[in-house]
Amino acid sequence: MKILVTGGLGFIGSHTVVELLEEDYEVVVVDDLSNSSIEVVDSIKEITGKEIKFYEADVCDLDALEKIFSEQKIDAVMHFAGYKAVGESVREPIMYYENNLVSTLHLCKKMLEHDCNKFIFSSSATVYGDPEVLPITEDCKVGGTTNPYGTTKLMIERILADIHVAHPEFTAIILRYFNPIGAHKSGLIGERPNGIPNNLMPYIVRVASGELEILSVFGDDYDTPDGTGVRDYIHVVDLAKGHLSALKKAIKDEGLFYYNLGTGKGYSVLDLVKNFEKVNKVKVPYKIVDRRPGDIAACYADPSKALKELGWKAELGLEDMMRDSYNFILKQSEK
Ligand code: UD1
Repeated sequence: MKILVTGGLGFIGSHTVVELLEEDYEVVVVDDLSNSSIEVVDSIKEITGKEIKFYEADVCDLDALEKIFSEQKIDAVMHFAGYKAVGESVREPIMYYENNLVSTLHLCKKMLEHDCNKFIFSSSATVYGDPEVLPITEDCKVGGTTNPYGTTKLMIERILADIHVAHPEFTAIILRYFNPIGAHKSGLIGERPNGIPNNLMPYIVRVASGELEILSVFGDDYDTPDGTGVRDYIHVVDLAKGHLSALKKAIKDEGLFYYNLGTGKGYSVLDLVKNFEKVNKVKVPYKIVDRRPGDIAACYADPSKALKELGWKAELGLEDMMRDSYNFILKQSEK
């Protein structure tokens, strides 16, 4: 079975490609290298001993997609390619809407033309906005996104639902990720954002490695046990495995499905800092600063639907996430 993975050299895409290869799927990757590196192709080979077929192209490019779909008989698509920086999306809304929506529309158009009907989409817990109840189930109200990035995810979910109505054979599985962190245990693939990181984990590892001086903790006056923001951090390898479970579901059942991919456990910013220091035996200096606009107090999943219907649950714990995130950065700096 041949799977097209868009954005397959990026953080979550590359870990999913590894899991697909480990289970003997054939993998075709399309990636424009805008937020990834070609060396990831070699790292994937080093980890799995297997080759992928790689196309360097932008998923918005219809001609490039036509070439891929006519050269390869694609059975299912996993769509990771997309812009994902919240702050940048506020500054560049047109760029975000254009890239994230057009790429998805073009992909779905080519899939239908080529009788490919299985689509796994990378959505986000951001579609729930500020949650009314915790833990968040898939039936919770969506909407109230606070930035263009989050709104693109919400809009794409609506687009996929409309395509499914018009083409019931088009099966879409929408995976709403909580906060993916960690890295492959080999230390060969992981998350390395360009410039100063916005997200917590990439920032922590760079403070620990001495590249950045001090972590700013955005607010300690939230209504949470220690006053700092609480999130559901999930190891990227668990997340990748969730995609394989979703793929098996898409192969078996026709429909439109939504799943939360999280652990169900919430940890605060200070929980992460303390756990990171303990596991890696390094100091992470921090200071408390004002809240970051747009942040919510707490967000964690009820992942029971994914367990019931996909047979998937997160297996790795916070210590694995802390160890593997740091291991990746140390391995990178050895290069
Ligand atoms: C954000 C986005 C979400 C996106 C995700 C991954 C919002 C509202 N949510 O999630 O849509 O899918 O990133 O890109 O923007 N923190 C600090 N100091 C830092 C960085 C973060 O204290 O330097 C805190 C935050 O206030 C928050 C927690 O750490 O409480 C996690 O932040 P982050 O990693 O940026 O993820 P989210 O904001 O949950």
